[in-house]
Amino acid sequence: MATNALELSHIDAYYGDSHVLHDVSFSCGEARLLGLLGRNGAGKSTCMNVTIGLLAPRRGQVSIFGTPVAGLSPEQISAQGVALVPQGRRIFKSLTVRENLVVAAQKPRDGKHAPWTTETVFAMFPRLEERRNQIAAHLSGGEQQMLAIGRALMGNPRVLLMDEPSEGLAPQIVHEVMNTIRKLKESGLSIVLVEQNPTLVFDVADDIVILNTGRVAVVSTPAALQEGNVDLTQHLGVF
Ligand SMILES: Nc1ncnc2c1ncn2[C@@H]1O[C@H](COP(=O)(O)OP(=O)(O)O)[C@@H](O)[C@H]1O
Ligand SMILES: [Mg+2]
Repeated sequence: MATNALELSHIDAYYGDSHVLHDVSFSCGEARLLGLLGRNGAGKSTCMNVTIGLLAPRRGQVSIFGTPVAGLSPEQISAQGVALVPQGRRIFKSLTVRENLVVAAQKPRDGKHAPWTTETVFAMFPRLEERRNQIAAHLSGGEQQMLAIGRALMGNPRVLLMDEPSEGLAPQIVHEVMNTIRKLKESGLSIVLVEQNPTLVFDVADDIVILNTGRVAVVSTPAALQEGNVDLTQHLGVF
């Protein structure tokens, strides 16, 4: 059986005494796109925090291409080839566009994919190149999201995690971001796309996992869910 790019198995995670993830298991295959859905507070970002080592799970394992990483530091996990585009962008607002990219640069760990550099990121996002010497705080929301994606790519990841990249963006910009995600998938990256809105994700995802109150409620595909066998509003509210 092929090794999964990312696998969470039987994860229990807490913030202090608050038990947030309950026996969460899901996986993202190599060069596949997993849509991770769930309403606000379902535990999506906590899954991201556990994956990148910001929150150590109390039980369970996280594997990156078969290598167990639960309990390792964020630096050690990042070195396995995982990068996160965090919810709310979290770029360095006082640095220029170019500086934001340069400080995130890491060497690729396999020869499989063309390495990302400031030049290749600028080729993907021409608007960032036009603004390369501007302070990031002066960018529009859409440009800041592109910069956040560019920063993650500069780490030359094998697995890219994106936490609600469409949040707070105008529909036209969301469309551009989704096109970018599609291109990244075609390049062979393994991607976990976290969203609250299923219609966005159904377009690009191979597989779907829905979290509900910290538990995996549904494991499916866009096609199966669009047939309507699962009550999506039960898990996702109104969308
Ligand atoms: N740093 C934190 N400390 C304590 N509780 C938190 C923290 N971050 C999130 N939570 C709680 O954990 C649960 C899951 O949150 P989160 O993973 O951010 O959900 P989602 O990303 O799906 O909206 C929520 O009940 C939230 O209030
Ligand atoms: Mg979140």
